[in-house]
Amino acid sequence: MAFTTSDPSDRAPVSGVDYGVGHVAIIMDGNGRWATNRGWPRLAGHRKGAERIKEIVRAAPDMGVRWLTVYAFSTENWKRSTEEVLGLMGIFARYIEREADELAALGVRMRFIGERGRLDSRLARLMSGIEERTAGNTRLNLTVAINYGGRNELARAAARLARDFASGAATEEDLSEAGLAARLDTVALPDPDLVIRTSGETRTSNFLAWQAAYAEYEFTPTLWPDFTPQELAHILDGFGGRERRFGGAK
Ligand code: IPE
Ligand code: IPE
Ligand code: MG
Repeated sequence: MAFTTSDPSDRAPVSGVDYGVGHVAIIMDGNGRWATNRGWPRLAGHRKGAERIKEIVRAAPDMGVRWLTVYAFSTENWKRSTEEVLGLMGIFARYIEREADELAALGVRMRFIGERGRLDSRLARLMSGIEERTAGNTRLNLTVAINYGGRNELARAAARLARDFASGAATEEDLSEAGLAARLDTVALPDPDLVIRTSGETRTSNFLAWQAAYAEYEFTPTLWPDFTPQELAHILDGFGGRERRFGGAK
C-alpha cells in the first residue's frame, strides 16, 4: 500500500486487525504548535490532545494492542509557564473524573508512572482512585506518564535498591538488571515494542530510557491533536515487516 505516515488521510482497516504489536508507547507531542497554528492558546491544543487519547484508547484493543503507554507530562515540563502547567494538571484531573466510567466499561486498567510527590494532592488521589477502581480490568492496560522522566525514574530505582540493600531487603543477587527493573515505576509493564513520537521531532525526551532499549521507533510529522486511529493502524501495519534481533545474529 502506498502509505507514508505523512499522509494520515490514507485509510487502513482499523477494527478487528491484530497487528501483533502488544505494547505501544506514544510521545504525544505537538499540542502547542497545533494551537498556535490556529492563533489559539496552547491549552486549547492540550484539550484537543486529551480528546485524541480517548479515541486511541477506544480503538487500540481492536488492533491487538494490549498495552498503551502515553507521555503526558515530563519532569522537564515544569519549566513551562505556571498557566500552562496548572492548565495541564487540570486537564489530567478532568480526564480521570470524566472518563472513569467509560474506561471501566471498556475494560481498561489504568496506571500512572512518574514521581507523584510533586503533584497536587487532589490529582494524586484521583490517580490512585482510578488505579484501584480499574485494577481488575484486562482488555487494555493504559499507562499515563505524569511528572515522568527516564533519568528521574532510574535515579529513584537506584536509591530504592541502595536502601533495600542497606536494610537487608535486597541481596547481592538484586544488584543486577533484574533487581533494578523490579524497582522501576514500570515493574508491572512489559517493555514497549514500538515507540511513536508525533510532531516531527526525532528525540526521545527522556521517555522510557531503560525500557525502550530495544524498542522500534516511528516518527510522524502529524501533530498529536491530528493523530487518528487510522494513522496508528498504518504505523502498526508497517511495523509487521521489521525484523527485531535483540542483539542476535540472523
Ligand atoms: C506535548 O505537546 C504535550 C506536552 C509536552 C505536555 P507540546 O506542548 O510539547 O507541543 P509543542 O511541542 O509545543 O508543539
Ligand atoms: C515530550 O515533549 C514530553 C511529552 C510529550 C509529555 P516535549 O515537547 O516536552 O519535549 P522537547 O522539549 O521537545 O524535547
Ligand atoms: Mg513539544
